[in-house]
Amino acid sequence: MTVPHSPGPADATVAPAAKSRTDEIPRLLAGLAARSPAIPPKYFYDDLGSRLFAAITALPEYYPTRTEAELLRTHLPAIVAAAPVTGGTLIDLGAGNCEKAAQLFAHMQPRHYVAVDISAEFLRDSLQCLQRLHPQLTLQGVGTDFSERLDLPSTLPTHRRTFFYPGSSIGNFTPADAIVFLRSVRDHMGDDGALWIGVDLQKPRDVLEPAYDDPLGVTAAFNKNVLTHVNRIAGTDFALADWRHVAFYDAHHGRIEMHLEAVRETRVAWRGGGRTFARGERIHTENSYKHTIPGFRDLLARAGLRTAGHWTDARGWFAFFVATPDGTP
Ligand code: AVI
Repeated sequence: MTVPHSPGPADATVAPAAKSRTDEIPRLLAGLAARSPAIPPKYFYDDLGSRLFAAITALPEYYPTRTEAELLRTHLPAIVAAAPVTGGTLIDLGAGNCEKAAQLFAHMQPRHYVAVDISAEFLRDSLQCLQRLHPQLTLQGVGTDFSERLDLPSTLPTHRRTFFYPGSSIGNFTPADAIVFLRSVRDHMGDDGALWIGVDLQKPRDVLEPAYDDPLGVTAAFNKNVLTHVNRIAGTDFALADWRHVAFYDAHHGRIEMHLEAVRETRVAWRGGGRTFARGERIHTENSYKHTIPGFRDLLARAGLRTAGHWTDARGWFAFFVATPDGTP
């Protein structure tokens, strides 16, 4: 459903976030009570968490954001040539303030821009500002949690749908879940669409670990803030001083793992339940998978997508892929 917002020629529409699942909080609490406790990474991104993430992207140790930006700056003509968007529909997954995609409008020349993010409210403000700058574009916002399921309104334009998924967020899916997600992108793409996607690559531990455990402690604050968010939405009483940030590279799985570790025995209560965490016990908060070029190409193929091109930086730290339907959905 799209909801018109103050109708007018230079205005955007925003569909509200799909109603949050009624079992969301029970599932979150079940995750805390489990033998291997976990909090899904989507809970990082409350208002403060989103600001802390923005601060992470400015850290010298966190290379993905600036490496990807440099790749796009350098190779944009070739990337556009691999899967032209002109006159089509640009669908921005995890759009946030829409800044990354907006920088590409001049080169991509889409006719329609669809911003997808978990926060419909946030999108409304960003799109209103964009509409004034780009009156020739039709703009639409879709509030949905696509980490669980990519639900798009049937009213979206169908012509040349190009999905833009920058930032290496695909790394926050397990490879099996990444295939499911990429296949749903492929299903929404039609036969003339494409996917533009940023992918973080495997590299030495001494580069990876500081990117997720910076000396300034910004990533630690980002990780611990998830407990404040969970306290607010699920009524838990986590004391932040009882927890410390842990991040390490698991070379066997090719992933960074982030955890929160209890620094002393601590009890956490919530309505109708609670649990005691022993000193040293951990809550798993995030995986960030690092891929290889052939490995990611294979993942795309398993999702029904053919690699039309890929570009990497001189150090081989990050890759940008363009993929199109392989013709055998
Ligand atoms: C959003 N995502 C791609 C980030 C990453 O690198 O996995 C989240 C993040 N976690 C810690 N630092 C950044």
